[in-house]
Amino acid sequence: MASFYSNSKMDVDHSRSARGADEDAVRGMYEDAPYPDLGSDLKALDLYLDPIRADLSKRDGIKFLDVGCGTGHVLVGVAKSHPQWDCYGIDLSKASLDVAAELSKMHGAKVKIERGSYLDPLPFDHQFDVISAMGTIHHCADPLAAMRNLRKHLRDDGYLLLHLYGLRCDREKFDIKEALSILEPDLRAHQARFNFYSGLMDHTRRRWAKRLALTMPGDAIGAVRAAWRNFKRRRRNVSWSPSFRERYDRISAPWIDHFCHPCERAYEVPQVQELVETSGFEVVRMLAQGRENKKLIPREWADRYDELDDWEKWRLSELLAAGGGSFAMILRKTR
Ligand SMILES: C[S@@+](CC[C@H](N)C(=O)[O-])C[C@H]1O[C@@H](n2cnc3c(N)ncnc32)[C@H](O)[C@@H]1O
Repeated sequence: MASFYSNSKMDVDHSRSARGADEDAVRGMYEDAPYPDLGSDLKALDLYLDPIRADLSKRDGIKFLDVGCGTGHVLVGVAKSHPQWDCYGIDLSKASLDVAAELSKMHGAKVKIERGSYLDPLPFDHQFDVISAMGTIHHCADPLAAMRNLRKHLRDDGYLLLHLYGLRCDREKFDIKEALSILEPDLRAHQARFNFYSGLMDHTRRRWAKRLALTMPGDAIGAVRAAWRNFKRRRRNVSWSPSFRERYDRISAPWIDHFCHPCERAYEVPQVQELVETSGFEVVRMLAQGRENKKLIPREWADRYDELDDWEKWRLSELLAAGGGSFAMILRKTR
């Protein structure tokens, strides 16, 4: 049975006031803790744009919109590497957009930024060739309404680039978050929650030796590389977006984002299918979690496997893989 994590109020009572409460809580969190911060690396979205570059290169005057652009690391990254595109961003949080404005100045990138919710009609009088929604739809009060609204603002031949939390990647994080909430339910009581978090990390540290002994050589090499990258970033005083598995020794925007977020969801393939199809989209390319991995399929299943549809194949890859990640998808409107 597929499962789903959500602490959204709207997912429980579907009322306008619950939607308002979710949106206020999300706005409040990012006003206090814009994320990622100014020093983080830009994100040019090559993973998503490479498969559609050939098509985009045939178009003139490309209009790109990053929704939930936050501090602008995607928006400025894309604008800097595509100076000929018109790049727009929208976000709820003024504090985040102030960082985005500074970031675009630092990089000499031309972007147009609006403050608002992408659950409301967007303040743009044209449709877009590409809309990206990175790490944001799972935080908004109503993901389905958001996707339907974005669909209206996308050209019929446009692309929606979507990054969504995968439950299989973040299960352990939500377990820790729930444990902290039993001890201190107020998500804004950062210091009290951080004290409980630190106690837990000290308590479980000794298990690392055991985990290391059980780690596959390939994963171990990946972990060493990531640790080295992060070590160099720290020495250069450059921040990044650390995973929840980092040991945090102080309260920071990423720690708050991981362990005190007031509205977030994490998906498995069946819920992603429902969200994508109900909002009138189809998948052009599945780039991460769920992506078809034929190596996981026993030879004895081959004939039956070939009869399955894409969603069933993606779900099988999710079920049979060890661990998991986030969803990264290129979508287009269903015809
Ligand atoms: C984790 S940040 C991601 C920022 C950026 N997309 C990135 O990948 O670096 C999530 C952002 O989504 C924004 N957000 C959530 N719901 C929104 C909504 N309904 N309208 C506009 N922005 C929203 C938040 O304000 C926050 O800045």
